[in-house]
Amino acid sequence: MRYPEEVIEEVRMKNDIVDVVSGYVRMQKKGSSYFGLCPFHNEKSPSFSVTPSKQMYYCFGCGAGGNVFTFIMNYENYTFGEAIKMLADRVGVDLPEMEYSEEQKKAENKRSRMLEINKEAAKFFYYQLRSNQGDIGKKYLQKRELSEETIHKFGLGYAGKYNNGLTQYLKQKGYSQELIKEAGLANVDEKRGMYDKFFNRVIFPIQDINHRVIGFGGRVMGDGQPKYLNSPETMIFDKSRNLYGLNFARTARKNNIILCEGYMDVIAMHQAGFTQAVASLGTAFTSGQANLLRRYTEEVLLAYDSDGAGTNAALRAIGILKEAGLTGKVISLVPHKDPDEFIKKLGAEAFQERIDNAENSFFFEIRVLEKNYDLKDPESKTKFHREIAKKLCNFSEEVERENYIEAIADKYHIGFENLRKMVLSYASKTGLVKEAVRPKSGIQPSKNTPEEAAKKSQRVLLTWLTDEPQLYVKIKKYISPQDFTDKLYEKIATILFEQLEAGNMNPAGIISQFADEEEQREAASVFNTKLEELETKQEREKAFHDIILGVKRCSYEYYSAHLDADVNALTKVIEGKRALEELKNTYISLD
Ligand code: GTP
Ligand code: MN
Repeated sequence: MRYPEEVIEEVRMKNDIVDVVSGYVRMQKKGSSYFGLCPFHNEKSPSFSVTPSKQMYYCFGCGAGGNVFTFIMNYENYTFGEAIKMLADRVGVDLPEMEYSEEQKKAENKRSRMLEINKEAAKFFYYQLRSNQGDIGKKYLQKRELSEETIHKFGLGYAGKYNNGLTQYLKQKGYSQELIKEAGLANVDEKRGMYDKFFNRVIFPIQDINHRVIGFGGRVMGDGQPKYLNSPETMIFDKSRNLYGLNFARTARKNNIILCEGYMDVIAMHQAGFTQAVASLGTAFTSGQANLLRRYTEEVLLAYDSDGAGTNAALRAIGILKEAGLTGKVISLVPHKDPDEFIKKLGAEAFQERIDNAENSFFFEIRVLEKNYDLKDPESKTKFHREIAKKLCNFSEEVERENYIEAIADKYHIGFENLRKMVLSYASKTGLVKEAVRPKSGIQPSKNTPEEAAKKSQRVLLTWLTDEPQLYVKIKKYISPQDFTDKLYEKIATILFEQLEAGNMNPAGIISQFADEEEQREAASVFNTKLEELETKQEREKAFHDIILGVKRCSYEYYSAHLDADVNALTKVIEGKRALEELKNTYISLD
C-alpha cells in the first residue's frame, strides 16, 4: 500500500522542509542550517537543526532526524499515509487514488468509523453530564474537587442509570450494532440482548496524542465494583502504546514527565499546574509506552501509589524506563496514598517540593531491597551487601558504576574498596560486566568498540559527502558501498553513490526508501553526523584523508576476518590492500 515513488518525491520536493518546520518550531539561520529548540525532547538551548541543502532535520541532543515526512509523522503522530496526505494538501498536489486491496480499504474505513463512533460517544457522555440526569455525576466530580474548567479540558462525561442510552443514541445516528459492539461500547448477551457497557458512571474519555478519542474509562460514583471499567482494546485502542494525558503533557514544556497510576491522579495534577502528568491505561506500564515518552523527555518521575502494590509497580516501571534509555526518579507521596490525595491535603507547592526531591531510581530500588534484610544480623547484612553488589554490576559504564559504588558505600556505610571488590568479583563470575540494553535510537553513549569506531568514520564520510558532493569523484576510486560494513550504511551508500554518480544527490529522498521508522531515524543520523570544526584547509584535508583511510582499513579488516564466510571477501581483501597502500601516498585536495 504505497504511492508511486515519483509521487512521494514530488510531494516531498514541493514541501520545503524549512517552510514546513517553521510552522512548528521557531528557528534561526546559522551558517547553512537553521537552529531551534527540539520539538521532540525538552531542552533549553537549541540543538535541533534543519539543513535546506539536504532537506533534512536532525537533533544533536536526542538523535531525532529525518525528512519532511518523518517530521510530520513524529510531530503529529501520523502514519506515513496521513503525513503524505497532509503535505500533498498543503501544496495542492492531487494524490492518485491509492490502489488499496479490498481488505485494506475495509480496514481503513473501519478505522475512521471507529474514531467517529468514539467521538460520538464522547459527545453523548459529555452532554449527559450537563443534562438534568447528569446531576449525580456533576456532584460526584465536584466532591472530587474538579473545577468546571478541568472537567471541560478532559472532556469528562456521565453515563446515565439506564443501560441502553448510548446504544439507542448511536443506532439513531446510523451506527450498526456490530460496530457499536466492536468499539467496545456495548455488550451482548442472550438474556438482555445488547446493552451499554458504561452506565451509572462518570466517564473519562481516553485520547491519543492528537486529541482523538480512542476509548473510555468509567468510574462508579461510590464504592461499587469494579471501581473502574475500561474499554477493551480495539483496532484504534492499543493500551500499550498510549498514555492518558499525553495529548496535553507532550506540549507542557517541563523538564520531565510525571508517570502515575490513575486517571484521577493525572487530572488532579494538571489542575494543580503539573501539566506534564500522564498515566497508563489501567494496565502495567509497557516498553511501548516508554518509547513513546522518549520522544518528549529524558527524565520520567514516577508518582505511583505509596502502598506495596504501587511500590512493586514502580520497580517494574524503573526497569522498563532504563531499558528505553530514560532516567527514572521516584516521587515520595508519604504519608498520602496517591498524587490526587496528596495535592488535596498538602497543595501544589508541597507537591513541587516532592518533585524537586524525587529520589534516584537506583537508590529507591536499594531502599526497597533493604526492607528484606535485618541489618542488625551480620549474616543478613552481608547478604544485603551482596545483592547490592550484584545490582551494581548492571552499570556497564565504568565511570557511572564507580560513582554509584561510591554513593552507595557512603550511604550504607560499607567500605568503598570492599564494595568495589565485591562488585568486581561478581562481574568476573558472571562473565563480563553486563552490557546494558541499548536504546534502539536516540542518543547512544559513544562506545569505543571497534565496530562503533568503524561506524563512526563511515557516518562521518557519508555526512561529509552530502555536505560536499563534489568530493565524490575524488574518492570513488578507493571507496565503494561494500566498504560500509554496517548493513544499513551499505544500503544507504549504495543509493547515495548512485545519486552522486548521476549528479543529483538527494539524501532526504533516501530516507523515504526505508519503511521502518527506526531505520529512517538512523539513516537521518548518518547524514547529520557532527563534523569536527577545523580551522585550516590543511587540517581539513588531513582529517578527510584520515577518514577515507579509516573507512578503508576497517573494511579491509572486516573482510580479512570474514574470508571463510563471504565469497567476495578475498577480492575485497586484495583490492583493499592495494587501495590502502596507494592512499597512504596520495594527496586528496578538497578544492
Ligand atoms: P480513585 O479512587 O478514583 O481516586 O482512583 P485512583 O485514581 O486512585 O485509581 P487506583 O489507584 O484505584 O487505580 C489506578 C488505575 O487503575 C485507575 O485509573 C484505572 O485505570 C485502574 N483501575 C482501578 N480499579 C480498577 C478496576 O476495578 N478495574 C480495572 N479494569 N481497572 C482499574
Ligand atoms: Mn485516588
